[in-house]
Amino acid sequence: MKKEEVLTLLRSSRSGHVSGSALAAVMGVSRTAVWKHVKTLEREGYAIEAVPSKGYRLTASPDIIVAGDVKQGLGTKIIGKEILHYAEVASTNTLAMDLAQKGADDGTVVIAETQTGGKGRLGRSWTSPAGNLYISMVLRPAVPISQAPLITLMGAVAVASCLRRCCGVPAGIKWPNDILLSGKKVSGLLTEMSAEPDRIRHIVLGIGVNVNMDSRALHPGVRKMSTSLAAATGRRVDRTALLRTLLAELDLWYHRFLHNDESVLAVWKELNVTLGHRVTVDGGRVTLEGFARGVDAEGRLILKLDDGTLRQVAAGDVTIMKEKH
Ligand code: BTN
Repeated sequence: MKKEEVLTLLRSSRSGHVSGSALAAVMGVSRTAVWKHVKTLEREGYAIEAVPSKGYRLTASPDIIVAGDVKQGLGTKIIGKEILHYAEVASTNTLAMDLAQKGADDGTVVIAETQTGGKGRLGRSWTSPAGNLYISMVLRPAVPISQAPLITLMGAVAVASCLRRCCGVPAGIKWPNDILLSGKKVSGLLTEMSAEPDRIRHIVLGIGVNVNMDSRALHPGVRKMSTSLAAATGRRVDRTALLRTLLAELDLWYHRFLHNDESVLAVWKELNVTLGHRVTVDGGRVTLEGFARGVDAEGRLILKLDDGTLRQVAAGDVTIMKEKH
């Protein structure tokens, strides 16, 4: 989109100013067209000053993600080669599944500022106020179906690593894929798959990160168990920088996953806050209680029940009960 090009050019200017004729020449449009794009951007909340002899300068931006800014110099191999940004969608996961069905490439990323029907795990909803990150990516891994659950663990490692790197917070992973800060949820992942009996067609990995939201937007029941990066760090977080780090981490960990690198499970284990604890696992119909002993090669939780038997659990909600043994 041309108006995004104007923004990218203004943001990348060393002096801050770019003349209307320079913008027009780079974009291959008239100076009047440039001026119209500037006016559109101003209506969207950007502050752009126009100095007669110097040109245009961006002085303030609304807190909106601009795909061009995210992509600039990103350098990822697969994740985010195509980035689609929307002001509002029902669910980025649903949209990414539709796009995948229509042939979207491996690594295509869908981002939305808000979601009206955000989906959580186990059929729950994911409240999606402005100020956070809601992203989904199309993945086409050439691996056996049995490996698919590892995608979620890989995603959790990427998110936790990103939050540690970007915000210096001690993010931990609660099996299978809740990202916690001091016991409160800051991010969740939802994986959806389309497959034939013996082949993955595509997977969509969706990630919601609570960044700068006003927590009053959350249901009171959810609010007390949740946190955001702004609440944890005491400052607003630059969502574009966070997103760029997230895409870079996802690219790195997806590459490792595709190459069967043992570091995916090893780092998941290092960052997890579940193993070694007594837990309950609520699977909807059945709740199991036992000692969280490990995860198997397919990402299932290995639970040692009180009668000594081992159970592998593929899905459920974990509550950590006691201190580590
Ligand atoms: C969970 O912890 O229950 C998973 C939450 C996943 C939320 C993200 S937000 C982006 C993507 N789109 C959705 O509808 N859900 C995921």
